[in-house]
Amino acid sequence: MKTVDILIKNANELVTLKGQNNPRKKSEMNNLGVLNNSSIAINDGKIVDIGKNLKYNSEKVIDAKGKTVMPGFIDPHTHLVFAGSREFELDMKLKGLTYMDILKKGGGIVYTVNQTRKATEKDLLEQSKTRLDNMLKYGTTTCEGKSGYGLNIETELKILKVQKKLNETHPMDIVPTFLGAHAVPQDYETRDYVDIIINDMIPKIKDLSTFCDVFCEEGVFTVDQSKKILEAGKSQGLIPKIHADEIVDTGGASLAADVGAISADHLLMSNDNGLKQMVKKGVIGVMLPGTPFSLMMKNYPSARKMIDMGIPIALATDLNPNCWTENMQIIIQLACFNMKLTPAEAITAATYNAACAIGLENIIGSLEKGKQADIIILDCPNHMFIPYHFGINLVKSVIKKGKIVIDKQRN
Ligand code: NIG
Ligand code: FE
Repeated sequence: MKTVDILIKNANELVTLKGQNNPRKKSEMNNLGVLNNSSIAINDGKIVDIGKNLKYNSEKVIDAKGKTVMPGFIDPHTHLVFAGSREFELDMKLKGLTYMDILKKGGGIVYTVNQTRKATEKDLLEQSKTRLDNMLKYGTTTCEGKSGYGLNIETELKILKVQKKLNETHPMDIVPTFLGAHAVPQDYETRDYVDIIINDMIPKIKDLSTFCDVFCEEGVFTVDQSKKILEAGKSQGLIPKIHADEIVDTGGASLAADVGAISADHLLMSNDNGLKQMVKKGVIGVMLPGTPFSLMMKNYPSARKMIDMGIPIALATDLNPNCWTENMQIIIQLACFNMKLTPAEAITAATYNAACAIGLENIIGSLEKGKQADIIILDCPNHMFIPYHFGINLVKSVIKKGKIVIDKQRN
């Protein structure tokens, strides 16, 4: 009998998400590829076998009786590296101030930019590492991380370097995004800052980033300015992503299709024409229900409509000082309760489709032979418990690249 590093056996539900090599759309989002009473064999960081009654020797046999085993969550939209916090904005939000009201008062992104500029690399590293530890505990095994709290070349570079160090030293895999166009720095004209991003920043950060993102929003960057930035990024090998139509419909969804973005994120206010163009170009819609939740808004993105139209949906935390959660389980809960996704759709959106939103679907996002062994074991009998039993952490164990990195019995 062959020996493997880890054998997980008897899983009540093994949620594989197997069998498709492109983002899941429409009814495909309900196909979780669940196997009952099944096992999974892991060796050299990879999945080597899946099925019933697997016969392997292993020094590490995990009995997953009564438990759910599934791919680690993938969080495809975070603002991981920032300094400080903004809990004092809660009182303002409760008084009815909007996101833009707070930003105009020198709060919001501007406040965090000042904190992040002042922070040392060591401070930023420590604060962000705690966030990664939390993510891992809650079952996230890969995330995207954006810059954007620097808005000058020194600090944008500082943030991306911190992310690189964390990626090299922490079990979490972090895919970097340059978001120099997150806001306009104080005392700058927008068009001057756009030139700085294009001519100074992009050439200097291009080797530290995979994606280029823009906050395309009324009062921030227009569609034309966003397009210029994203095209400049593309010419240096950066794949476009967009914060689109979060507060006002400015045509961000159409822009995402126009520039061939891998994803358009938020989409709270998008018009149908823009969404149709996204369908045509296969742009993934990343839903961030934590954002309207933390902004105390009534509206959530029309995810049901987008799924019916054929937009592949992914889910993410948007982790940032305005919406501070590292927990993809609560995002799945919000997606079901407030956007009416089925548990299966939400899980697809938080795993396989999330991998597609950061271009990693060939490596992670499903449990299949040959894929990286990024696996979580949940203390619940089936996947529906993730939204159903809310407010607690269901994760019992986390395996990253074939190594047990969280084990509740052991830790
Ligand atoms: O995705 N909207 C722009 N950026 C973030 C918020 C950042 C912040 O408020 O610090 C978002 O919601
Ligand atoms: Fe964001």
